[in-house]
Order: sequence, then structure tokens, then C-alpha cells
Amino acid sequence: MTLSHSLSRRGFLTGAAALAGAAALPRTGRAASPVGLTLAPVQSQLLPPPRPGTPVWSFGGTVPGQALRYRRGARLSVRAENRLDQPSTIHWHGLRVPNSMDGVAHLTQSPIPPGGDFDYAFDLPDSGTYWYHPHMGGAEQVGRGLAGALIVEEDAPIRVDRDLVWMIQDWRLDAKGQIDPDFDTPHDAMHGGRIGNLVTLNGQAGDRVEIAPNERLRLRLINAATARVVALDFGALSPVIVALDGQPVTPHAPDDGVVLIGPGMRADIVLDGTGAPGSTQPVRDVFYDSMTYDLVTLVHGDTPVRATAPDWDMALAPNPLSEPDLEAAQRHEVIFNGGMMGQMMMGDAAPEMIEQMRAGKMWFVNGRASAGHDGPALIEAPLGTSQVLALENRTGWWHPIHLHGHVFRILTRDGQPTARREWRDTVLMAPQERVEIAFKADNPGNWMLHCHVLAHQAAGMAALIRVSDAA
Ligand code: C2O
Ligand code: CU
Repeated sequence: MTLSHSLSRRGFLTGAAALAGAAALPRTGRAASPVGLTLAPVQSQLLPPPRPGTPVWSFGGTVPGQALRYRRGARLSVRAENRLDQPSTIHWHGLRVPNSMDGVAHLTQSPIPPGGDFDYAFDLPDSGTYWYHPHMGGAEQVGRGLAGALIVEEDAPIRVDRDLVWMIQDWRLDAKGQIDPDFDTPHDAMHGGRIGNLVTLNGQAGDRVEIAPNERLRLRLINAATARVVALDFGALSPVIVALDGQPVTPHAPDDGVVLIGPGMRADIVLDGTGAPGSTQPVRDVFYDSMTYDLVTLVHGDTPVRATAPDWDMALAPNPLSEPDLEAAQRHEVIFNGGMMGQMMMGDAAPEMIEQMRAGKMWFVNGRASAGHDGPALIEAPLGTSQVLALENRTGWWHPIHLHGHVFRILTRDGQPTARREWRDTVLMAPQERVEIAFKADNPGNWMLHCHVLAHQAAGMAALIRVSDAA
């Protein structure tokens, strides 16, 4: 098996999609006219043949959706063409966009009606691994497959042999391979969200990806599931995390030996083919004790690409983010309540929350269930101020909490300073965990803060942060 042959079907498709994207999209400078991106139903072979195909919804005709690839500093210009039979939008997860381009239905734009179009155009100040998906509140549109990778290349990328996107999606299929149409069930919403029964990597389950001995890969892992947290165990291989949510981080081995990625989150890892020629290494998701499975199997080829593993530098240059001023920062307590068994942790605010539960809400931010675009803002932040949010998870569930329009530093977890003060756009909170985050409110507009378990978001776990120009 030679290296050129070792591009697996998966690798080939990813490469081809990336090339198609690169050919269609301007690498630098201003886009003359928008690139069309169609939201439409398609048939996809998620299950291996001869199992039946699955009708899904897609961006650009593929699952996952068309990968968009740009250079840092370029301008994205996309015409969203909604050919679904329901309204939709596109949100650019993790990108610091102008508020009017954020794609949040009913907050930053009207939903794009069936048959309608919407033009998104903005500059890309930050490099990294991002993704896009509709922002229509519920789990259905993402759960039916609408998600795509958005890669912004560094000015000076780190050296690797291959740069691959690994997009993880979670599907709940019936025995006939059809998507279970019962989205946002109260049971899912009260528990961990809509956890599926088939996990795909770049649209396929249980695939094999080849790696040559001593080859270096950059894997851009994107968790596009609506609810499932993944914790990837690479066995005898030694992944090194070089970026989280697109933002460079000091290269480090994963804590506890597994790469933990909540819904919405990303991790860029560097992986060297250190196994023996011909050996295989499953990449196992071990997050849920009773539901472990092999996401993919890495297969070492027979022919090393070099005599030893490379010793190339893995550190990425930081993005131009504004550093929050912790001394001067405004501080807010943000308490999350709700879910199954959550009433024990509600304390004095329980009556009001129980009242909202009668109206079908199940999750609360400072005692209030919200769609994130209705009612008063949780936080009013004058433009240019620094904000520290002390997040507290008073529930028995995991929550990936995502902030729009900004990137924040993670300062502490349960009162302990974090080792790397990493920048992120989504922070995964364990049950009962407390996390302090900080950011500079430098992007004016109405921004959502919400759980990326989409059934939690739909059942109230969302709030609004207003960054106002009028200081
Ligand atoms: Cu990935 Cu509010 O979204
Ligand atoms: Cu949640």
C-alpha cells in the first residue's frame, strides 16, 4: 500500500469536497458574487449497503454539507437557497460575524421561507475549524443532517502530511433506516437530548481511514450532533490537541487521555502514524459507559513515509482576539437549572420554575426559560466592556454552553484556574460544575448564550446578551 493509494475513499471524498470548495470560493480578497448553498432533501447511504438509504436534509447535496474553505482575511459570500418545505437560516458557529449575519431566526434575521434566498457576506478575521448549521431553535434541522464544515486556513499553517475534516453526526434511525420524525420529545428534552443510534464520521459509520507509518495528520474534529457528547480514545496512538473551537491552544495531550468534544465544539489534533505497518487502531467513543462504539478504525499502511515520526512544530499562531480586562470586568452569576431530577437543585426559585414547567419549559437560565430572542436580556454589556460570567450548572446533566459573536477564555473550573486559559466559543459543563469565563464585549448586537444540546435549547436553556453601542 503506497501513500498515494492510502488516501481512503473517505479521505478522497473529503479531499475532493475541499478542493471543490476551494475552486468555487475565492481564497483571498473580495468575493464578486455569492456562492450558492442549497438546503434541500437528498438521499444518503448512511448505513452500509445493502441496508437502505436514508432521506436526509443537506447543504449542497452531500452529508455532511459542502465543506467551505477560505484563507484568513478572505470574505465569505454565500447565497443560502432554501429548498426545504420549512423556513430556515444559516448560523456560522464560532465565527465573529456582524450581528446581522449571525443567522439566528427571529433575533438577527427573519427565517428564510421555503423557496426563499438570503445572502450572507462577512470578513473572516480568525483562522480555525468552524461549522455552519441552521438556527431555528429545535433539533430537527440539524438532526436531519443540516451541518457543514467551515475551515479558515492560517496565514502560516503548521506542517502536516494531510489535513482532514472529521465531522461527527448522530442519527436516530428506525429499523428501515428512516430518520425518527419525533423530534423534541419531552423525554429527550428532560434528559440528555436526542441521542441517536448511529454515529457517522463524514457521513459514514464504522469506516476505515488509512494512515501511513510516520505520517502526520491534522484532524479537524467537529461534533455536529444535536446532543451526543463524544470522548475519543485513540488507544496506542498519541493525539496532540493544537486548537479548541478553532482557537489555537498550547499543544498538549488530552486530559484523561481522551479527546472530549461536546455538541457544537471542535478540536484540532495532530496525529502521527506511530503504529506498526499493517496494524489497526480503532478510535473508540467511550463517553457513555454503556454505549461505546468504534467511530472509525485507523489502518496503518505497509510503507512508512519517513524513517521516524516528524518533529515539526505544532504550535499555531493566535487569532487577533481582544483580551478581557479582568480587573475592570463586570461580573455576572449565571445559574442553569432544570431537567430530570433538577427540582432538588432549584432552591428558592423553584415555584417560578415549576410554574414555567407547566407551560412545557424544562430548562432555566437564572430562573427563566427563554427562546433566547424573547423578553429582556440576561446581560446588558456596553460595547468595549469586559465581562466575567460565573456559570453554574445546578443540574444532573452535561451542557455545552455556547456564546455567539465572541470568543471567551475559560478562567476556572470549580474554583481552580485552568491550566491553559483556553479560548473557546462553547464550554462543556459537567453536572454540578462551576466554570468562569471571560470575554471582551467588542461586537455590538443581540447575541445568544445557549446550550448546544438542541432539545435543551428549545425547552428554555437560552438567554440573550446585548452588547450595546450606546455606552
Ligand atoms: Cu451552533 Cu447558537 O449555535
Ligand atoms: Cu443542555
